Amino acid sequence: MHLPKAELHLHIEGTLEPELAFELAARNAVVLPYSTTEELRRAYLFDDLQSFLDLYYALMAVLRTEDDFDRLADAYLARAAAQGVRHAEIFFDPQAHTARGVDIGTVVEGLARALDRSEERHGISTQLIMCFLRDRSAESALATLEAAGPYLHRIAGVGLDSAEVGHPPSKFREVYEAAAALGLRKVAHAGEEGPPAYIWEALDVLGVERVDHGLRSMEDPELVKRLVRDRVPLTLCPLSNVRLRAIDVLEDHPLRQMMEAGLLVTVNSDDPAYFGGYVGDTFHAVREALGLGQEQLRELARNSFRAAFLDHDEERRAAYLAEVDAYVF
Ligand code: ADE
Ligand code: ZN
Repeated sequence: MHLPKAELHLHIEGTLEPELAFELAARNAVVLPYSTTEELRRAYLFDDLQSFLDLYYALMAVLRTEDDFDRLADAYLARAAAQGVRHAEIFFDPQAHTARGVDIGTVVEGLARALDRSEERHGISTQLIMCFLRDRSAESALATLEAAGPYLHRIAGVGLDSAEVGHPPSKFREVYEAAAALGLRKVAHAGEEGPPAYIWEALDVLGVERVDHGLRSMEDPELVKRLVRDRVPLTLCPLSNVRLRAIDVLEDHPLRQMMEAGLLVTVNSDDPAYFGGYVGDTFHAVREALGLGQEQLRELARNSFRAAFLDHDEERRAAYLAEVDAYVF
């Protein structure tokens, strides 16, 4: 049995495994520029965030129907359940699909089909977080929020992802204000490749409740103080940071120092099909590389439930935390 945990930083499009990509390509008559799954896997050598994003967006061409999105999400949930995930807050990138002529309704309804069966089939409670692509315009983000109108009952919050440097959070002030007025929760990627100033903006301009990554927080002691004071959760993705060369090797990851500084950090997989592991694999990898003890792992699992958007169901949060406390390594 695996340590029970919540996954709070997971792009559903980043769970597209090569086998499913080829199967959907055949079904939808999409030609991929790779002839085998091995050849595709060999392309997973990234220099930075952008080199990954280029492939990530290209492979999405195979996702066309509601059933494709259902298959994608169900496959993720099955793998996540096998690694102890009990609650998942799942990102999706509507603009990456609408730009290819796939309606946002197809995306949300397809994902929702898998999510609706998730508790019964996989024992995982779920939420959806709609991300805006920060390398597109603020107007495009606003249009996306508007297009999501009929599906807002399925969407818990908004996020901000894609190429970070040169696209500061403040660019999206207006759409975050509009999202908050609609009752949506707010998160944003910040400090993955971008500077600590972007994390400050995410907090002070967008009013985010969690920071996705926040890897570069430790460069700014005042920022660390602020994040500790306000108990702002950071959703770290250590395997992603190595694969996208934000750090050289996992042994250099600041996770341990961040915990010791009193930050509320969580461990997540980001885009597990591309980065070499799902969240249970990630816990295992950081335990080995950083020499974390059982109580530190348990604390990371507790943090994942503390940071989850479960305010509407505190009983459930308490039950998950009790599962973590009762877990025997
Ligand atoms: N989209 C998918 N994965 C991402 C990441 N790690 N950073 C920014 N945007 C992303
Ligand atoms: Zn991410």
